[in-house]
Amino acid sequence: MTQTREAWGSRFGFVLAAAGSAVGLGNIWKFPYIAGENGGAAFIFIYLICIAIIGFPVLIGEILIGRTTQKNPVGAFAALTHSKLWVSIGFMGVIAGFLILSFYSVIGGWTIGYVVETIRGSLSNFNNPEEAGALFGELVGNVGWGLGFHTLFFGLVIGIVIRGVQGGIERSSKIMMPILLSILVILIIRGVTLEGASKGLAFLWVPDWSKITGQAVLIALGHAFFTLSLGMGAMLTYGSYMSKQDNVVSSAALIVFLDTAIAIMAGVAIFTAVFASGLDPAAGPGLIFQTLPAVFSTMPGGVYFSFLFFLLLAIAALTSAISLLEVVVAYFVDEKGWDRKGATLVFGGSIFLLGIPSALSFNLMADMKIFDKTFFDVVDFVASNVLLPFGGLMIAIFVGWIWSRTAVIAAAKEGAETLFESYPWFETLWFIFLKYVAPILIALVLLNSLGIV
Ligand code: PHE
Repeated sequence: MTQTREAWGSRFGFVLAAAGSAVGLGNIWKFPYIAGENGGAAFIFIYLICIAIIGFPVLIGEILIGRTTQKNPVGAFAALTHSKLWVSIGFMGVIAGFLILSFYSVIGGWTIGYVVETIRGSLSNFNNPEEAGALFGELVGNVGWGLGFHTLFFGLVIGIVIRGVQGGIERSSKIMMPILLSILVILIIRGVTLEGASKGLAFLWVPDWSKITGQAVLIALGHAFFTLSLGMGAMLTYGSYMSKQDNVVSSAALIVFLDTAIAIMAGVAIFTAVFASGLDPAAGPGLIFQTLPAVFSTMPGGVYFSFLFFLLLAIAALTSAISLLEVVVAYFVDEKGWDRKGATLVFGGSIFLLGIPSALSFNLMADMKIFDKTFFDVVDFVASNVLLPFGGLMIAIFVGWIWSRTAVIAAAKEGAETLFESYPWFETLWFIFLKYVAPILIALVLLNSLGIV
């Protein structure tokens, strides 16, 4: 039975959906706190370099593998190599999608939970971050609260993916991404007009190089990777719905630009507010859920900004989560002949179930430790610190060394003929980064996250 495969309605739709995948909890929850912990401006500078020399070259490669084969990660490697090793790399991506989505949905649930708590008025009376922290502990410690919002978040993810590439993912991204950008602009205007905002801006722009350690460089590198959704086939899968008439290089550049700009904008919105209230920018993972609610409590009209902020976070998480589920669904649709509806329900349902112990890691199962980590921490560690960097390393090696250079360039030129002709140095530079710079640096991140260097 030959069925035509699904595809994006337009290049713009692809770029928005892929930017939606890239812009997630990584940009708005993680980036500001790791920048805060690692010294602000100097860290951001290093992160930008990593994005440019590793993220961008690997992103083009990953999208190309998908676009050329028009397949999911497993089918794509099988089509290009016939080698079991490479097919298992594709398979690892499907597993990573399974694992990452299971815990991502728990945090995604919290963001919706915070929108609801803002509306209920429970976030508006804090005098300090400790009080906000106590409520945070109470909420995530509550089994019903955690599981309930995990379920709600997952319901939304399934509801979008089941409607398909154009009708679900593309359409929802076209609605959600402009909302996300508008909210960010409102929050930035609020942030920079607060008294004392300039200290927050100085924190972001004036580098303190003494804060930069080898560890900070590796964190920046690892994050460059996570934030662009690289290394597990999400960009490969989205690329597989792309037309051969569209320019992969300029689309990748636009995705990188949007992802980076939104992370920096989130940093501006958050740090101006944090510094204006005289709070600690290095509060760690609780910066968003504990420090910010305290900031909003002291701000006139803070409850509206709190609502907008957590809505922004929920939207960002949702557009990333759908790309994770799509990798798994695409695999079962392409390779195993499932229909989209069945695959989304069955495998979305299984990932949801796998997320339950992650949700319970903050309450009932908090004391059940495997190597000193909760279930949530284990899944997060294996997926983000092992599978993603390893997958990214393999993608760089594959495009740089295994797939023939003539074939790669021919594939990249489809839809980008003029770009390659007008800028002949681009091909040379891209290959240097793919073949040497990216694999060496990614290998370092990987060894570091395993505690080896
Ligand atoms: N890029 C997403 C974020 O920044 C996370 C993600 C990783 C999504 C891998 C899909 C695949 O939050």
